Amino acid sequence: MTWTPSPMPSATPSSSSPRIVLGVSGGIAAYKAVELLRLLRDEGFFVSPVLTPDATRFVGTVTFSALASEPARTSLYGDPTTPIPHTYLGQHADVIVVAPATAHLIARYAAGLADDLLTATLLASRAPVLLCPAMHTEMWEQPSVQENLATLRRRGVLVLEPDVGALAGGDVGPGRMREPQEIADLVKRLAHGFEGPLTGRRILITAGGTREAIDPVRVISNRSSGRQGYALAEVARRLGATVTLVSTVNLALALDVVRDVDVVKVQSASEMHDEVLSRLSDVDVVIMAAAVADFTLRASKVKLKKEQGPPELRFEATADIVSDLVAKKSARQVIVGFAAETTNVEQNALGKLRAKGVDLLVVNDVSAPGVGFEHGTNEVVILDRDEHAYPVTLRSKEAISYEILARVASLLTQGDS
Ligand code: CTP
Repeated sequence: MTWTPSPMPSATPSSSSPRIVLGVSGGIAAYKAVELLRLLRDEGFFVSPVLTPDATRFVGTVTFSALASEPARTSLYGDPTTPIPHTYLGQHADVIVVAPATAHLIARYAAGLADDLLTATLLASRAPVLLCPAMHTEMWEQPSVQENLATLRRRGVLVLEPDVGALAGGDVGPGRMREPQEIADLVKRLAHGFEGPLTGRRILITAGGTREAIDPVRVISNRSSGRQGYALAEVARRLGATVTLVSTVNLALALDVVRDVDVVKVQSASEMHDEVLSRLSDVDVVIMAAAVADFTLRASKVKLKKEQGPPELRFEATADIVSDLVAKKSARQVIVGFAAETTNVEQNALGKLRAKGVDLLVVNDVSAPGVGFEHGTNEVVILDRDEHAYPVTLRSKEAISYEILARVASLLTQGDS
């Protein structure tokens, strides 16, 4: 992240300090939880560490007790301060963060088990919960792990997806826990309500590939999954923006999204055009992450029959939404376009930047490995109006979103002055 986080008072925790339960489960990333604890204490939070028995194989309770606001707990039983520590912790927590969250912890939480103090506390609480998974790539990609996370997300749990990076044993891949500073920033926003560099800004984001009807049954579409648009919506919300998502797909179950995001469902390029343009005057920013069809066709009202042979499809051009936005926007509004390219990436991207007149153009070479459509990761170059290029190397779509939104925030600030 490139912006300066909004200042928060660093203070000694008082009785009114937000209370954070820091859950630690048994993975090598447990050592990073010590740094997270320190950062949370520096923010003035009252932090209660809860370690699973396996976590204590990686880190000692003494370290946590020394840094925390009260002694670290590891068991449902034998607590000298209260006979029922899970309800005490769960009911008083303003936020519960679990870092690292192992595959085992995620499975137990998803199944509603309460077989240790941490899972019992999670069940005994109505506070927002943030899970920070950390595990080897093979484990992270297991359908069982992903389905458990989808279940938890559906119940409102936030998941800070792991990064691609160095893992235990010298391996490299997705599964590395996010850095303590980033986790602490998100906990801060959860504890204080979402506040950040986009607080007070209204952002409209489009997501997914449009679907152009051939007849009532068949459509022509493209391979856009909508994941980049959803990740942008999620991150914009975390950074304080009021977000509207105009989308052809519903990924609410697959991604962390979307508490408090207004989702408008559309199908065709023309529907997306009308929904977006009619909202332009209500927003400060539009980010066109959707893959909009360049051509549509007049749909048959009835299903075409096979016996009639291959249909002759007559295409006609759609309106270019982003160009219409640029033509109508005020000087203070920011319009962000995307460019999906496969050849002559640089040249095509510069041509698109000039032709569309957008404030920022996010360029991806969708033929490169791990990039663009249907992937959880992306690699982009962000071009600004002055044709400066900011390359963002391969990382999660959520991490890419932070980079894009940092540039948006800085353009908005420039527009204010
Ligand atoms: N876009 C749009 N309306 C369209 C087509 C595209 O607003 N009818 C937007 C996309 O949302 C994206 C940007 O324009 O932000 C570039 O889209 P892309 O598909 O990369 O380029 P095109 O302009 O469609 O050109 P080409 O397909 O020839 O590369």
